[in-house]
Amino acid sequence: MRLTVLAPFALSFLAAASLAASSRDQEILAEAQLAQFDFRSGNYAAATPLVQKLEVAVAESTNNAKLWEALGNAYMSQQGATLTAQPDMPKVIAIGERARDAYARSLALAPDNMLVRASHGMAQMVTALLKGDGPGITAGVDEMNAAARQAPQTIGVRLTRAFTIIHLPPAMRDTDAVIGDLEYIMRAAPGGRPEDVLRLMLGDVHAEMGNLKTAREEYLQVSGASAFALDQVKSRLADLEKGAVSPASIAQVRAGTGSGCAMCHAPGSDKPEAGK
Ligand code: HEC
Repeated sequence: MRLTVLAPFALSFLAAASLAASSRDQEILAEAQLAQFDFRSGNYAAATPLVQKLEVAVAESTNNAKLWEALGNAYMSQQGATLTAQPDMPKVIAIGERARDAYARSLALAPDNMLVRASHGMAQMVTALLKGDGPGITAGVDEMNAAARQAPQTIGVRLTRAFTIIHLPPAMRDTDAVIGDLEYIMRAAPGGRPEDVLRLMLGDVHAEMGNLKTAREEYLQVSGASAFALDQVKSRLADLEKGAVSPASIAQVRAGTGSGCAMCHAPGSDKPEAGK
């Protein structure tokens, strides 16, 4: 008898407690987003404190898919920050595995989130690539392809696939998928510094495949909103006169997908008249 009296009270208490937990989770997620903006605009030191905060948060709130996703993203940022000139490879791989596992926890709770599926595929492919694990690479790519098939209009899904598989050697890579993704992203989010860098990257993919005429057409569309991209284009056009673009300069721009986020995400534009 006492139980029936107690139960509604106990339940309402539990409901209040879980509401409190979820609003705390919301707060942490909002802080995580700000920290990611900070990271993206060039503060690479923001990644590790964010990882630590989210590790505590998922230990306290184990069933929040968004927190696990944010933790996966934080590990990926931390991995990007670890990819210096002389990277500690075992450490870089371990961080990638943590990212993959965090995304897996998120997916177990929310299997329909295609961005998280693509992100899991990304972490899977990157770790497998670093370990030289061929079947692991294929598994990651398959997962990103499945996510892009199911959510072709989600920019994040297409960005994740493009920026990940672009690193595969052309013989191993679905180059049409990379080109389609980059073109889709530019159509959906046109203009400014990101578009300049995306055009440059697209031109580089064409150059790498020997389509020098198409490469040149892409390079010529770089507006100068990104001074970096315009500078690169000048050297590309000179390279094209000689018949090929140097792989080292392609690699330099591509590395931005891992840790040079600021080349697209830094606020503003490098072009003086665009700042007015
Ligand atoms: C070649 C340009 C480019 C680079 C480099 C780049 N991004 Fe982006 N990013 C974009 C574009 C374009 C979008 C989609 C439009 C938008 O949301 O601004 C985007 C969107 C995003 C989004 C989802 C939208 C949002 O605002 O929340 C996240 C998260 C993101 N980028 C993180 C990163 C991180 C982290 C890095 C570095 C590891 C990075 N990006 C590097 C171009 C780039």
